[in-house]
Amino acid sequence: MALRKHRIEELLNITEKLNHIKDIDALLDLILYEARSFTSAEAGSIFLREGNFLKFSYVQNDALAKIDETNNKYIYSIFEIEINEHSLAGYVAKTGEPLLIPDVYQLKETSYQFNKHFDEIAHYRTKSVLTVPLITSQGTVIGVMQIINKKSKDGRLISFTKEDMRLVNFFANNASVAIERARMTREIILRMIKMTELRDPKETGNHVNRVGSYAIEIYDRWAKQKHIPEKDIRTYKDTLRIAAMLHDVGKVAVSDMILKKPGKLTPEEFRIIQAHPVYGARLFSDSVSDWDTLSAEVSLNHHEKWDGTGYPGHIKNIYTDPVQIGPGKKGEEIPISGRIVALADVYDALISRRVYKEPWDEEKVLAHIRSESSKHFDPDVVEAFFAIYDVIRAIRAKYSDEENP
Ligand code: C2E
Ligand code: SIN
Ligand code: SIN
Ligand code: FE
Ligand code: FE
Repeated sequence: MALRKHRIEELLNITEKLNHIKDIDALLDLILYEARSFTSAEAGSIFLREGNFLKFSYVQNDALAKIDETNNKYIYSIFEIEINEHSLAGYVAKTGEPLLIPDVYQLKETSYQFNKHFDEIAHYRTKSVLTVPLITSQGTVIGVMQIINKKSKDGRLISFTKEDMRLVNFFANNASVAIERARMTREIILRMIKMTELRDPKETGNHVNRVGSYAIEIYDRWAKQKHIPEKDIRTYKDTLRIAAMLHDVGKVAVSDMILKKPGKLTPEEFRIIQAHPVYGARLFSDSVSDWDTLSAEVSLNHHEKWDGTGYPGHIKNIYTDPVQIGPGKKGEEIPISGRIVALADVYDALISRRVYKEPWDEEKVLAHIRSESSKHFDPDVVEAFFAIYDVIRAIRAKYSDEENP
C-alpha cells in the first residue's frame, strides 16, 4: 500500500495549494485540473448548488480543447439540473453518496439517467463517469464534481476504480471548504460593488462580472501567445478577475449629478470624472496583497491609451487635491492589466445601454475596436480579443442585462 500512501501525500500537497487561491473560478479550474490529473481523466465538470438546483459552474475537456482552441466558451454555458434522483449529478447531490459508472449510455435499471445535453452540443461521447458530492465540514452538500473518461497509458478509455473513487471523494471534501471560502469572497466583492452602483442602477453586477471574465479570457490568449508558462497564467488570472471587477470603484467619489447625467458631459464635468482612476488607486494603495497591488494598477491605468492620449497619465503623487492629470502613459508604459481592462471596459460600454447612450450594433462596436487598434488599444490585445470572440459572446450571454431587469 506504499503507492496508496504516496497518492494521499500528493493529495494533501494539492489541498495546500487550494488555500492560496482567491477567485472562485480560478479555484474550480484548479480543483478540476488536479482531480483529473490524479485519475488520468480526459474531462470533468463542477456543479454548484443554488437552492434546489445544481448550476453548471466549470468544465474542462482535453479532447475538445485539441479541436477547438476557444473551447473555453463551454465554461460560460448556462444550464441547471434539478436536485432529484433522475440525473447522476442530482442523485449524488441528494444522497451525498458518490457514484461510479463504467458507461453512462448503458444505464438500465437505475432511477438516474445520463443527460446527453452537453455531449450533443459539444459532439462528445461521455463514457465512464465518477461523480462525487462536494460536502463541507458542516455536512452541507454545496455541489458535485464529475470526472469523465479515464484513459489508460496507451490512450484507451477505461473505467475508474474504487480506489479513484475513495481518493477523489477525500479530495472533494477538502476542496469544498476552499470553495465555500472563495464563494464568500466573490459575494463580498459583488456587494461592495453593488453599494457603489446603488447610485448608478443601470450598471448592475453584470457589467463587472462581464468585464472580469472578458479580462481573464483576453489575458489567457495574450499570455499563451507570449509563451508565458501555464502556471504563471493561472496565478495571474486568479488576481486579475477580481482587480478587473473593481476597475471603476473610484466612481464612488464622483457625484451622482455627473454620473447619472443623461446627456453629454461638459468639459468641466469630464475633468471631474477623469479623477476616478486615481480615487480607485487610493483605495488600494496600502498594498498588503497581490490583490490590492493589481486592483490599484487596473484602476489607475484602465483609461490610458496605447498612443499616449489617455488619462490620468504619469502622476507623481496620487494624493494631491485636486487630482493633477499628468502626461499620458504610452504603449508598454501602461501595464498589461490596464491595456486589457481598457478594451474589456470600452467593449462593454459600447455594446450596452448607459444612462447617457443607447447600445451600439455589434458590427459597429467591432469596427470601432478594429479602427482603434494601435490608437486607443494595444494591437496585440485587440488580436487576442478577436481570436476568442466566441468566448466573449458566451460571457455576454451568461451575464446578460436582459435576464435580470
Ligand atoms: P463608462 O460608461 O464605463 O465608459 C467607459 C469607456 O467606454 C469611456 O471612457 C469611453 O472610452 C468608452 N465609451 C463609452 N461610451 C462611448 C461612446 O458613446 N463613444 C465612444 N467613442 N466611446 C465610448 P471615458 O470616455 O473616459 O468615460 C469614463 C466614464 O465617464 C464613463 O464610464 C462614464 O461613467 C462617464 N462618461 C463619459 N462620457 C459621458 C457622458 O457623455 N455622459 C455621462 N453621463 N457620463 C459619461
Ligand atoms: C448528469 O449528471 O446526468 C448530467 C451531467 C451532464 O450532463 O454533464
Ligand atoms: C461620448 O462619446 O459620449 C463620451 C465618450 C467619449 O467621447 O470618449
Ligand atoms: Fe472607468
Ligand atoms: Fe466601466
